[in-house]
Amino acid sequence: MGGGSFLDVCGIEVHYGQAILAVQNVTIEVKQGSVVSLFGANGAGKTTTLKAISKLLGQERGEVTKGEITWRGEAIDRLSASDLVARGIVQVMEGRRVFQQLTVEENLMAGAFVRRPNGAQMAASLEQIYEWFPRLKDRRKSRAGLTSGGEQQMLAIGRALMTKPILVLLDEPSMGLAPIIVQEIFAIIKVMNRENGVSFLIAEQNANLAMKCADYCYILETGTVVMCGEAAELLTRDDIKEFYLGSNKSEASGVGPH
Ligand SMILES: Nc1ncnc2c1ncn2[C@@H]1O[C@H](COP(=O)(O)OP(=O)(O)OP(=O)(O)O)[C@@H](O)[C@H]1O
Ligand SMILES: [Mg+2]
Repeated sequence: MGGGSFLDVCGIEVHYGQAILAVQNVTIEVKQGSVVSLFGANGAGKTTTLKAISKLLGQERGEVTKGEITWRGEAIDRLSASDLVARGIVQVMEGRRVFQQLTVEENLMAGAFVRRPNGAQMAASLEQIYEWFPRLKDRRKSRAGLTSGGEQQMLAIGRALMTKPILVLLDEPSMGLAPIIVQEIFAIIKVMNRENGVSFLIAEQNANLAMKCADYCYILETGTVVMCGEAAELLTRDDIKEFYLGSNKSEASGVGPH
């Protein structure tokens, strides 16, 4: 994988509606070809951070008020969300938003429109998605709103992949899904990462997933990064096990590390 900078989030602060400070002094680096997780509880600032990167904060009256984000060396402050999609960053929103009335295949095709593919390119892209998600192929003619939660999450990811991204921002892909489906989704993420070099930044509330499925992990608490490191290394630490993985005595206390 090439050197040079990939995604750099440097000391950002985000306010909503000028008054609410949601995130402060957040610094995150995603190296090309890696899977990075952003772990934190409810309201820790995961979605805010992802939306700052994908330029989706504007819709929420949110604004980056300090710090800088660069994508492959280019400051993103003047870019729009669609400029970023064209440059290879796409976000899969929390809550698996799909077009309920459209079929699975129509949803996927909608994802590709930004690239204006011809018929053959569209067919090839669909085939690639169906290879990753055979369940979507089985359901291609079904209305998206009638598919299961797991299938909708796969569809939301598949639609984002139709943009041919370099970096995917995934917001809580496990939310509300059965463990076996979550495993399936994370296994596919691994394949896309290893075989196709797609990089991922994944927001997760589940500590086990955040640390076991990523190369590197950032832990967010009340809008700020309190710890980060190689995921495999974090998993071996007693304080992490005790406070976040619930495998120790004080699991009921709910107290985090200082
Ligand atoms: N649109 C908004 N307007 C005002 N405040 C917001 C808005 N969205 C989020 N916040 C606040 O910003 C902080 C961070 O929220 P954010 O949604 O980024 O957290 P999160 O880690 O994604 O949480 P969750 O796990 O619940 O999705 C919270 O205090 C939240 O109340
Ligand atoms: Mg969120």
